[in-house]
Amino acid sequence: MMKKKKNVLITGASTGMGKATALFLAKQGYRVYAGTRTPSKALEIERDNLHLLELDITNSQSIQRAIAQIGQIDVLVNNAGYGLVSTVEELDEEEMFNQFNVNVFGVLRISKAVIPLMRKKESGVIINISSFLGKIGLPLLTMYNSSKYAVEGITDSLRYELRDFNIRVHSIMPGFFDTQFARSNLVTNLETFDKNSPYAKMVANLAPNIVEQINSGNDAQEVAEMILEIIENEKFPARATVGEKASKFIPMRRELSDEDFERRVREYYHL
Ligand SMILES: NC(=O)c1ccc[n+]([C@@H]2O[C@H](COP(=O)([O-])OP(=O)(O)OC[C@H]3O[C@@H](n4cnc5c(N)ncnc54)[C@H](OP(=O)(O)O)[C@@H]3O)[C@@H](O)[C@H]2O)c1
Repeated sequence: MMKKKKNVLITGASTGMGKATALFLAKQGYRVYAGTRTPSKALEIERDNLHLLELDITNSQSIQRAIAQIGQIDVLVNNAGYGLVSTVEELDEEEMFNQFNVNVFGVLRISKAVIPLMRKKESGVIINISSFLGKIGLPLLTMYNSSKYAVEGITDSLRYELRDFNIRVHSIMPGFFDTQFARSNLVTNLETFDKNSPYAKMVANLAPNIVEQINSGNDAQEVAEMILEIIENEKFPARATVGEKASKFIPMRRELSDEDFERRVREYYHL
C-alpha cells in the first residue's frame, strides 16, 4: 500500500508527543525520521523504519543537512517546543528571543525548507503542534502563549498559500500532557522566581499548579493517534483540540465574551 510508505519528519522527537508519534507512525508502516538535537539520547527508539536524525530547528544548516538525508518528505510534524515562564516586566532579552526562535522561527525555518519538496510533488501535510494556550492567555506564560498564538497564525496563513499545491496545513491544540515538558523543558526566569519578585504571590500560587496539571495531564499517545488521523483523512478539520484541558477551555473561549472567559479562568486558577 503506497500510503504506508510515506516519509514523515518529526521535530523534537526524542521525548513526549514527538517520540510517541514517531513510534506509533513507524508501527503503522510509515517511514519516520525522528529529528532531535541529540540522537545519542534517543537511540532506543530506532527501528527498521524509524531513523534518528540530528536536527536543530534554530539552525538552517542543521535543517538542510537533515533534509538532504531524507529525500522526499510527505508529512512534516512541527512538534519541537518549550515553555518560558516569566513575567513580562522581568523578561530577559535573550530568553525572549529564544522562545520565539524555537517555537515560531523554528517552525517557519523548517517549513520553508520542506515546502519546496512538497510543492514539486504537489502533495504534502504539515501538522503544527500548537497548544490550547495558542488561543488562551495565562499570566507568567506571555512568551509561550504568544509563540503559540503565532503558530496558530502561521497555520491559518499557510493553509491559503499552499492550498493550490495540494499541501494541507493543520494545527493541533493539546491541553496539558504528561511528557518531559514540565520536567525538563520549562525555562524559568530567575527574577520571576526570586522570592523578592513583586509577582512572588502569583508565582507561588500558579506555577506549581500548572506544573502539577501538566505532569498529571493526558497521555501523548492521544496526540500520536490524532496525527495519524490527520495524515490519513484528507477532510480533517484545520485545527483540533486534544486532551481534557483543551476540550474544556477552547469551546468555553469560543462561547463566552473576553471578560466572562477571563472571569472563569481567574476563578479556576485563583488569580
Ligand atoms: N506537554 C504539554 O502539556 C503541552 C501542551 C500543549 C502543547 N505542547 C506542545 O507540544 C510540543 C511537544 O511537547 P511535549 O509535551 O512532548 O514536551 P517534551 O517531552 O518536552 O518534548 C519537546 C521536544 O521539543 C524539543 N525542544 C525542547 N526545547 C527545545 C529547544 N530549546 N530547542 C529546540 N528543541 C527543543 C526537544 O527535542 P529534542 O531534545 O529531541 O531536540 C523535546 O523532545 C511542544 O511544542 C509543546 O509546546 C505541550
